[in-house]
Amino acid sequence: MKRPPLVFLKLGGSLLGDKSKPRSFRAKTLGRIGAEIGSALKASPPISLLIGHGGGGAAHYPAKTYRTRDGLPGGGGWRGFAETRRGVLTMNTRVLKALAGADLHPILIPPVAGVLARNGKIKTWDTSVIEATLKAGQIPMIHGDVVIDKGQGFTICSTEALFDFLVESLEPARIVLASDVEGVYLESSSPVVGVETRPLRQGVEVIKTITPANRTAVRRAMKQSGVKHGSKRVYDVTGGMVAKVEHLAAMNRRHPKLETQIISGLVPGAVEAALRGETVGTVIA
Ligand SMILES: Nc1ncnc2c1ncn2[C@@H]1O[C@H](COP(=O)(O)OP(=O)(O)OP(=O)(O)O)[C@@H](O)[C@H]1O
Ligand SMILES: [Mg+2]
Repeated sequence: MKRPPLVFLKLGGSLLGDKSKPRSFRAKTLGRIGAEIGSALKASPPISLLIGHGGGGAAHYPAKTYRTRDGLPGGGGWRGFAETRRGVLTMNTRVLKALAGADLHPILIPPVAGVLARNGKIKTWDTSVIEATLKAGQIPMIHGDVVIDKGQGFTICSTEALFDFLVESLEPARIVLASDVEGVYLESSSPVVGVETRPLRQGVEVIKTITPANRTAVRRAMKQSGVKHGSKRVYDVTGGMVAKVEHLAAMNRRHPKLETQIISGLVPGAVEAALRGETVGTVIA
């Protein structure tokens, strides 16, 4: 039996809590988002859903301390692997509990148990368990994780890198990345030629669409930007917003029909609207 069109939804670490604080978690926000996901799943036309969640402060903090993403050459050794993994587990429990409060019960499938990487890149991952979970009408949930790496001992795979891999076998129709910012921001004082924006607040605009034609200019502007966005001190060990855009652009190049956007889960209703196919944030086309 064919399943309904699949949507990948990432609940980013910056949405789950303040990433600079290992203990920060927005349980109420997650509960509200759980309810939004529930109503999107009841709406028509039907969709199937795979959720991914970020590591948040609980995982980024040890990952930064031990330079876990670099594996053994990072110097933190297997203790860094273990501590980062414990942070991931803490986040798993928090997310599952908050979603359960909204009567949403995804099935947690930890990447560490299946992914094999080499020098920071995912090489193999048997996705038949995820596929079977979807076929059973359930919601598989994956997350950014520490994984075994045949070149450097271990590494960290972001949710975006995992989505990038899963796109090939699961063929989603849509990817929605929800974090604490309403899309990709630009400073109003340095507009980029060929980029349409909508004003957000004093001095800051949200890019409507990133295309192959304006991508390089946007990337340059993002790297130079002095605007403070979202969380004050950004803790991200896997490349942050620039990497998010790169991953979505790469997936789009391979699958031109794939709809992808970056939204803020802090805006009530945005997750539900995006799951239903509406444009609310920055589209990567
Ligand atoms: N030009 C920009 N526009 C918007 N956000 C930006 C920009 N440059 C940097 N950022 C930062 O990128 C962050 C989002 O990337 P981040 O990787 O932290 O997201 P996440 O997916 O929520 O977290 P995680 O990767 O831990 O799951 C925002 O909180 C913001 O601080
Ligand atoms: Mg990130």
